Amino acid sequence: VKLVAVVGARPNFVKMAALLRALSSTSTAVAIDVVLVHTGQHYDVAMNTQFFAQLGIPEPDICLQAGSGSHAVQTATIMLRFERVLDQVAPDCILLVGDVNSTIACALVAAKKQIKVVHVEAGLRSGDRAMPEELNRLLTDQLSDRLYVTEPAACLNLRREGIPDDRVVFSGNVMIDTLLTHRDRAVPAAQTLAAAGAGPLAEAGYAVVTLHRPSNVDDGGALSRLVQVLDQIAHDIPLVFPVHPRTRQALQAAGLQGFLDQPDVVALAPLGYFEMLGLMADATFVLTDSGGIQEETTALGVPCLTVRENTERPVTIEQGTNTLTGTDARVIRQCVRDILETGGKRGRVPEKWDGHAAERIVADLSRWLCAGGGSR
Ligand code: UD1
Repeated sequence: VKLVAVVGARPNFVKMAALLRALSSTSTAVAIDVVLVHTGQHYDVAMNTQFFAQLGIPEPDICLQAGSGSHAVQTATIMLRFERVLDQVAPDCILLVGDVNSTIACALVAAKKQIKVVHVEAGLRSGDRAMPEELNRLLTDQLSDRLYVTEPAACLNLRREGIPDDRVVFSGNVMIDTLLTHRDRAVPAAQTLAAAGAGPLAEAGYAVVTLHRPSNVDDGGALSRLVQVLDQIAHDIPLVFPVHPRTRQALQAAGLQGFLDQPDVVALAPLGYFEMLGLMADATFVLTDSGGIQEETTALGVPCLTVRENTERPVTIEQGTNTLTGTDARVIRQCVRDILETGGKRGRVPEKWDGHAAERIVADLSRWLCAGGGSR
């Protein structure tokens, strides 16, 4: 059986690393021949190359070099180039992860060619259609033939959207597979901070900040309000802030780049996976608008404040260490005070976030492919 695995953006690399590892090491009901396609949505060394190296992802067989652009341009470029790949390779199915533009672009091309679509991390819903990823999730799941989910709420979302139960498998979380595989290779926070000239923070304590959601950074007013809150928090605890390229551009455009230069803020370029893992593991808390970091902090048992109005990952709140703060300054500051006074929320690790999700997926996938891969 020939399978095309697609990656495009940073969080995809983390998830696909676990799946590729399981595909090459698990004995399957049918031989699966993998062709790795990189759409090129993320292309910088910091956002791309170092993840391949650290996570042991093989060189992609095919690179589409789609790059950046508006949503329409990026999605359409990937579609045009991916169609040619499918014509050349003629796979039996494609394997997709997550909710980025590369995911929906490739799902749509494959489904129209009646090539089976397999989606890992299906069914997550924020309920917020202003979020580009939510549209990508809804549409990708409608086009998918086999759907693997990370938490039980996702099964209910899919059922509500009319997706037959027999296409859906609760497999666990491949992002946590990767985290557990590499936990021992994490670069100690002290080392990353020392390299940034902020060595003493490793002992004194710090919070990690990441921001890149369009709703938080693309609007100058929203970004400026968030920066004001962060500025206040930095008086209580120093902030270590690996800055996403989108956010750096937005800070510059809004004339807010001075925030990155103040003494209690350590601004860093986007970090490698091992560096970020070590930095999060030793943090007093993490303040973020990322999806994956809500899950990683839950797995690490580190308190997380999510500066969004909603989350597609409710299990991180119900069972994990995550708190949804919204973007109201008073609420965020109160949550920070709670953490500094009490140590913050203690959670437990959700069911099937045990490091074996990818093995379960590969075992199921090979049985399913062997049985003909379902019928539409
Ligand atoms: C994308 C995903 C988001 C994911 C995030 C992880 C979509 C809709 N969004 O958002 O779900 O959480 O990746 O990082 O797919 N840029 C660079 N270098 C790069 C890549 C991007 O400088 O290697 C800059 C470009 O100016 C680009 C901007 O960052 O315009 C945004 O990149 P893009 O891929 O459009 O979306 P992200 O914000 O990274």
